[in-house]
Amino acid sequence: MAWRNKADSQLPDIIESEAELDEILSRPMHETVKTVSQLDGDILILGVSGKIGPTLARLVKRAVDEAGLRKRVIGASRFSTLGLKDELEKAGVETVSCDLLDEEQLDRLPDASNVIYMVGRKFGTEEDASLTWAVNTLIPAMVSRRFRNSRIVVFSTGNVYPLVPVSSGGADESTRPDPVGEYAQTCLGRERIFEYYSRKYGLKTLFLRLNYAVELRYGVLLDVAQKVFKGYPIDLRMGYVNVIWQGDVNNIAVRSLELCNSPPETINTTGPEIVSVRWLAERFGALFRREPVFTNREMEKALLSNASKCFRLFGRPTVTLEQMVKWVAHWVLIGGRTFNKPTHFEVTDGRF
Ligand SMILES: NC(=O)c1ccc[n+]([C@@H]2O[C@H](COP(=O)([O-])OP(=O)(O)OC[C@H]3O[C@@H](n4cnc5c(N)ncnc54)[C@H](OP(=O)(O)O)[C@@H]3O)[C@@H](O)[C@H]2O)c1
Repeated sequence: MAWRNKADSQLPDIIESEAELDEILSRPMHETVKTVSQLDGDILILGVSGKIGPTLARLVKRAVDEAGLRKRVIGASRFSTLGLKDELEKAGVETVSCDLLDEEQLDRLPDASNVIYMVGRKFGTEEDASLTWAVNTLIPAMVSRRFRNSRIVVFSTGNVYPLVPVSSGGADESTRPDPVGEYAQTCLGRERIFEYYSRKYGLKTLFLRLNYAVELRYGVLLDVAQKVFKGYPIDLRMGYVNVIWQGDVNNIAVRSLELCNSPPETINTTGPEIVSVRWLAERFGALFRREPVFTNREMEKALLSNASKCFRLFGRPTVTLEQMVKWVAHWVLIGGRTFNKPTHFEVTDGRF
């Protein structure tokens, strides 16, 4: 099924403002609007206030409006980021402040037939692993019980796979999980807990094993671009990565609601390229007219996924790597705002 529609061909050469960026990231595709119009019930996004959730919530609301529906679009999280709650409300997304570790607050959430689950904790695991286990495995158990009659798309991660030889082309969904480090172990735990309840209650669910969503305010491309721009050394040991434009991730997440199943479906979610970090730095170097500085050498293995199944189901991502590189380079050159949240993609021992 082809992904391209009229809206997708209307991508600008450069992005000049956050308003423009948010508009592009929250643009629903024709197929997404179709999915939303075929779903019964409301849509609830848990963990809405992170890096991906705000643009996903706006995209869902736009899809609902374009389909001429009256569905509620609700976003829940603790809203640690100031001002975000108001911004989402202005965009027509209902918001609920909720600490999902608190059973009573979870019980008070509105019912919804469709849940997109984005809750997670990664950084700080080395300092307090028990909290990471609680967020990444206990909340899934509580949410599975609370929303056992809903369909749930769960954001997971490619980190559940072991590092694989670059020559393998990346782990596919049949590769046995073998997570490196405690954060990644909790992510496999998140999947296993949802799977347990899926098998026990018939909960319809689906895992999106994502690696490296990219937009201009954070992501692997920004991390590499900033280092090249500032002349900081780039560690080449994790020498290859997969990336995907966050707007494509958002559309895939909504369209996946239709595919939730018991036992769960699993879909690797990333772009088609095995991107060489060295090549990426050199591309940015050419655009900035600066020579990148490298340390270490590429290992033979890397954290890589094969997303062929995703392309078969949803088509190829609409935004190319070349386009993302140009957008990010321009953003760095104009000093665009960032989230100041490095991905730490270069970590090879799984310690975050
Ligand atoms: N971004 C990527 O490239 C990437 C790659 C692989 C996997 N993923 C997965 O995709 C998901 C979404 O990604 P992201 O980058 O948006 O993650 P993120 O920025 O870490 O956001 C996590 C969300 O969880 C919420 N949360 C944490 N503890 C909570 C609690 N006790 N109660 C309620 N909400 C809580 C946070 O909001 P508050 O702090 O405001 O509550 C936030 O909204 C994550 O689970 C991550 O594992 C992302």
